[in-house]
Amino acid sequence: MDSIAVIDFGSQYAHLIANRVRRLQVYAEIFLPETPLHVFSKYKGIILSGGPNSVYEKGAPTINPKIFSLGIPILGLCYGHQLIAHLLGGKVEPGQTKEYGLAKLSVLKKVGIFDNLRDHTQVWMSHGDTVTALPKDFIHLGKTPDCFYSAMGNPARKIFSAQFHIEVTHTVDGMKMLSNFLDICHAKREWSMERFMEEKITSIKKMLGDRKVFLLVSGGVDSAVAYAMLSKALGTDRVYGLFVDTGFLRKNEGKKIAAALRKIGVKNFHVFSAKKRFFSALRGVINPEEKRKIIGDLFLEVQAQAVRKLKLDPEHWVLGQGTIYPDTIESAGTKYADKIKTHHNRVPEILELIKKGRVIEPLAELYKDEVRKLGTQLGLPDSMVWKHPFPGPGLAVRILCADAEKLPENTSAAEENIETFLMPHRLSGKILPIQSVGVQGDARTYRNPLAVWGENINFDEFENLSTALTNRFQVINRVCLLLAPQKIHSIKILPGVLTEKRVHLLQELDDIVMTFIQKNHIERDTWQFPTILLPLSINGIKREAVMLRPVCSEEAMTANFYKMDFMLLKKLVAKLAPKVSAVFYDITNKPPGTIEWE
Ligand code: XMP
Repeated sequence: MDSIAVIDFGSQYAHLIANRVRRLQVYAEIFLPETPLHVFSKYKGIILSGGPNSVYEKGAPTINPKIFSLGIPILGLCYGHQLIAHLLGGKVEPGQTKEYGLAKLSVLKKVGIFDNLRDHTQVWMSHGDTVTALPKDFIHLGKTPDCFYSAMGNPARKIFSAQFHIEVTHTVDGMKMLSNFLDICHAKREWSMERFMEEKITSIKKMLGDRKVFLLVSGGVDSAVAYAMLSKALGTDRVYGLFVDTGFLRKNEGKKIAAALRKIGVKNFHVFSAKKRFFSALRGVINPEEKRKIIGDLFLEVQAQAVRKLKLDPEHWVLGQGTIYPDTIESAGTKYADKIKTHHNRVPEILELIKKGRVIEPLAELYKDEVRKLGTQLGLPDSMVWKHPFPGPGLAVRILCADAEKLPENTSAAEENIETFLMPHRLSGKILPIQSVGVQGDARTYRNPLAVWGENINFDEFENLSTALTNRFQVINRVCLLLAPQKIHSIKILPGVLTEKRVHLLQELDDIVMTFIQKNHIERDTWQFPTILLPLSINGIKREAVMLRPVCSEEAMTANFYKMDFMLLKKLVAKLAPKVSAVFYDITNKPPGTIEWE
């Protein structure tokens, strides 16, 4: 099958480039710049990604210049554009103005990647350096008001490049340009999910022979789709799915997964309940890090015990995993994702098993959107396929625990200053006597949230205000909007740890929220929509309070709070308010807040 190689120079967008190529039905893979040249000979085209460095800096990532003599068409984007100029005798210098955001591109020559394009089109820029002289035999293809050599090309050598990011949706004709490049490569559009599924079934059968697969189903999209895929290839009897119930799952989670799998004919799915062990290990624990450690360690222990009980003979059993493509690639752009996920899919024991051919990962070539497509093709319901990510420790890190008020030393002075700051906006504020985790630079913070209330202002104004507040007042790391009641007169801590009763309460509240967002089609607009239980009694009402934390994000490295329609939000609040003493809405971006509160 014809494929494209994407060389990653540390861009956040390298995966996006590969993903977009695949959407145009050509398979694409990511490589590091130091990959030996002979590897590329079987690829129909090479794309050089963006990156955070300057090409002229010492130690900046580069490629073997002989790549330009392979006769394979090359497309450079952003850093890739500058690298082509730099290596082929053009010039790159720090730009007069650093350019971020939208720009109007004037197309000067409708050739190569600009074939059949309109005269002017919107593009998205993010760069400090600029190409100031073209390499020999390159022609000038496009310019923007702030970047003269926005695009260039050498049609005879089939090398093209652009300063802007053609892979992002803000570049309106980006897909057209990419499609033009694929035509230049003569890449056949053969990659499709149907074809992937057929080929995968054959390769799974071949790899497994008559062995069976054991797979831990976490409740997330990836492991469920991997399970369904393996069952389709091998038959349901040969795939044993195990789901460990920690007690911190969403309402009826195990049952919902079992039902979704049964619906497509999969039966060999088992739930191992370890609720009691988790609750007793966590008795009296308040600190979030301690909670995480206890849950992580116990999970591994319980999992090992569950597997031992099955007495799987290693000669006849293979371990199945729902690893997806971004988890398998070691490149700058995915290092952060690695930190979050690789710990369970790529621990040394698993790597050892992989070496011995005892691990099967049927989704290892796929991106999330492709996994979803495959899930749908396999017949899994939307509620399963479009599920939000859910943290391993589950609701345990969404139930704040407390034994006493936790307030900063100088609370009243800080509140006075905050009050003065809020006055012109006709808002009031109070520091909540609890703490949550945040992130600033690379450092973790554990500070108090500020609750604000007052006359209606819109979410865009709140966003500026929230950023200004967290920048200015170091005692807080989050800002939350009070949605009900209208004001805060008094706040009291309701001492509480992780109990079945509190988990049950959060399950009910979370279920109200999840059902509401599914019904109103908000699920696909948000990356996650955590609901958090706060041990706070507001205005003397002896019930806990709840925090809504919807965010938009790509891969969770950064996030923006979701700006929900106010009328809809009002309806949601009306459903939650009778069950709690207050409803809050987190209006903090990441950074300085994290997505989860613990
Ligand atoms: P934060 O809260 O750091 O979360 O902004 C980033 C993303 O990671 C998820 N998350 C976890 N996922 N095990 C997981 O599998 C964990 O311990 C864990 N902690 C956070 C979080 O839900 C978000 O998507």
